[in-house]
Amino acid sequence: MVNQLKIGMVGTGFMGRAHSNAYRRVNQFFNVAYEPVLKAVAARSKDKTEAFARRWGWERVESDWKKLVDAPDIDVIDICSPNNTHHEIAMAAAQKGKIVLCEKPLAINLTQAREMTQAVEKSGKLNMVWFNYRRVPAISLAKQVIDEGRLGKIFHYRATYLQDWTISPKVPVGGAATWRLEKEVAGAGVSGDLSAHNIDTALWLNGSISRVFGMTEIFIRNRQRLDGTPASVEIDDVCTFLAQFQNGSNGTFEATRYARGRKNKNSFEINGEKGSLYFDLENMHQLQYFNHDDPDHLQGWRTILVTGSEHPYMANWWVPGCVIGYEHTFINALADFLKALEKNERVRPDFRDALETQSVVEAVLESARAEKWIKPEEL
Ligand SMILES: NC(=O)c1ccc[n+]([C@@H]2O[C@H](COP(=O)([O-])OP(=O)(O)OC[C@H]3O[C@@H](n4cnc5c(N)ncnc54)[C@H](O)[C@@H]3O)[C@@H](O)[C@H]2O)c1
Repeated sequence: MVNQLKIGMVGTGFMGRAHSNAYRRVNQFFNVAYEPVLKAVAARSKDKTEAFARRWGWERVESDWKKLVDAPDIDVIDICSPNNTHHEIAMAAAQKGKIVLCEKPLAINLTQAREMTQAVEKSGKLNMVWFNYRRVPAISLAKQVIDEGRLGKIFHYRATYLQDWTISPKVPVGGAATWRLEKEVAGAGVSGDLSAHNIDTALWLNGSISRVFGMTEIFIRNRQRLDGTPASVEIDDVCTFLAQFQNGSNGTFEATRYARGRKNKNSFEINGEKGSLYFDLENMHQLQYFNHDDPDHLQGWRTILVTGSEHPYMANWWVPGCVIGYEHTFINALADFLKALEKNERVRPDFRDALETQSVVEAVLESARAEKWIKPEEL
């Protein structure tokens, strides 16, 4: 029997679309015991939200997210609005006993993230943070390869998240998507926006980070708001840090929006005693693998096309060789969430996992400020 799960979503931008698509598609590709019902959606502009609701099939529109939280016919609050709204919405939703799903980064600072984690755990309801890259089949396969012990002892973890869309000084501060340049709204710059993804993946694949040393830079300090008034930029344009993992391996992380030509190069390489893996989101259906146990004359990096039914999630999609894309990572994540709901078990990454990521981001920023090593667990 399929149970209805009534969703109330906040935000109709980039993530509002990605999540709406996932809610509509998940039951067509995964056998899960719950069917999301697109009950109500709220965002700032009533007209735009109404048009969005018509396009995606949301039943009703609210002008204020508080109405979603108060509504008795809503089971899940899904937060797809900018970072500075996450705390207030999650706290209110948890207090009302709703299931809370939240976009990343969990909050604009560690204090908020801690309060949110406590609140959802106190409510006893399932919670999840949409670090969707764990659901890229090639990254899930990397996790499997590592857990099978095929890399042996890990020495190095190397991650980058490179984009180039803020190089022009004409990119404004504030507005759709460009709220990312506004400190009060975003909390942090690329550290919270891009490094957070790299950190979540790294914690999942390689375990906890014991200490970090960060360096940040603001390349364009003076921009304009949409109305032409001057705005000073206070978030990090670039964030580079060294990390030592609890398993003894060393890591380097680099995130920027100033890497000309790089659009969404979210990559990692992990080197172990017995082998290595390399992944790049710009070739997301591939995982590169080097196996030192191969015969000497056949040694070399191999490219695994992660589209077979033996690969994570792929049995639910098309025939081998047919690739899936960015939007499927959200559908895969939602399917995992619905399965966890059915079994009444923890789904990862949840608020507690995202809190650990937030503590690493905060440690990096604190380290860059203080110019010294910082241990995330001591913050
Ligand atoms: N998982 C990912 O890969 C990923 C990718 C992009 C964005 N995100 C995260 O998703 C969140 C939203 O980002 P986006 O790119 O969709 O932003 P966006 O600018 O495209 O859309 C933001 C939406 O939130 C609404 N909104 C803003 N303030 C609001 C308020 N006070 N109350 C109700 N609605 C409000 C806006 O009207 C808009 O509909 C952010 O936290 C971001 O970091 C995650």
